[in-house]
Amino acid sequence: MQTRTIGPVTVSAIGLGGMPMSIEGRPGEARSVRTIHAALDAGVTLIDTADAYHLNAGETGHNERLIAKALASYPGDTSDVLVATKGGHLRPGDGSWTLDGSPAHLREAAEASLKALGVDVIGLYQFHRPDPRVPYADSIGAIKELLDAGKIRLAGISNASIEQIELARSILGEGNLASVQNEFSPAFRSSEGELRHCAAAGIAFLPWSPLGGSGRAGQLGTRHAAFGEVAAAHGVSPQRVTPVVIPIPGASRPESIIDSAQAPELVLSAAELARLDAS
Ligand SMILES: NC(=O)c1ccc[n+]([C@@H]2O[C@H](COP(=O)([O-])OP(=O)(O)OC[C@H]3O[C@@H](n4cnc5c(N)ncnc54)[C@H](OP(=O)(O)O)[C@@H]3O)[C@@H](O)[C@H]2O)c1
Repeated sequence: MQTRTIGPVTVSAIGLGGMPMSIEGRPGEARSVRTIHAALDAGVTLIDTADAYHLNAGETGHNERLIAKALASYPGDTSDVLVATKGGHLRPGDGSWTLDGSPAHLREAAEASLKALGVDVIGLYQFHRPDPRVPYADSIGAIKELLDAGKIRLAGISNASIEQIELARSILGEGNLASVQNEFSPAFRSSEGELRHCAAAGIAFLPWSPLGGSGRAGQLGTRHAAFGEVAAAHGVSPQRVTPVVIPIPGASRPESIIDSAQAPELVLSAAELARLDAS
């Protein structure tokens, strides 16, 4: 498995997105644990989660607890696995996603995530989404407090604009914004500016829904014909062709993550990359 860095931490070039194992359509726990173990077997050392990856009211942290359980029952060494969680979103249980970016909530949420993950320090803590009712600087100030208090090792943000990335950098201090997680896929390229900005600033960029999201991931090769054609030429799945920074493809089946984890080994020609870019 090729590697990338998030701040000073080395991780696999492909991560595992935990969301499909805890929200609508989630599988039973046994299959989820098999999926996480398959990712670890394949060399994945970055697992993305959030306290809000759950379905019903009262089960905040469902995905964090699932990941903690799968890591604990894995027979191999998991000490190099970076679990990246998030705070600032809530799910009241009616299918909606609500926001609370207040410093008080973020402090409480981080404590709950520490417990759900069963750790003393969270590897990477990401502010999930800007809350329009709370000044962005206040939310990021809370993340800085967590960093200073040693409750989180690395700080990241998600769903952020270039202006918010710069504000977060200035509040967190030089070199302390480790990652930005925005939506980016062949279907949604709206964060191309943020991706380039992060590349120039040396900040890890973690594209979310890198295959276009759960509902669309299966049709990647037909919705984006170039991906299907280049994949066929290499005898691989279109999902394995998708080239980005440290993608965190979600999976609820072992087969999906086993396939996606092989993406970094696929060598594409300049002409093929240009073709995918133009599609
Ligand atoms: N920060 C944010 O606001 C935010 C928002 C959304 C998502 N996320 C994060 O980003 C992660 C990824 O996003 P996502 O799950 O929404 O969408 P996605 O990664 O674009 O698509 C996920 C789906 O792709 C399928 N898949 C994965 N690898 C495959 C392969 N090699 N071949 C065929 N199908 C494959 C999986 O199917 P199976 O389920 O059948 O395995 C899964 O349901 C999430 O899990 C979450 O951690 C973050």
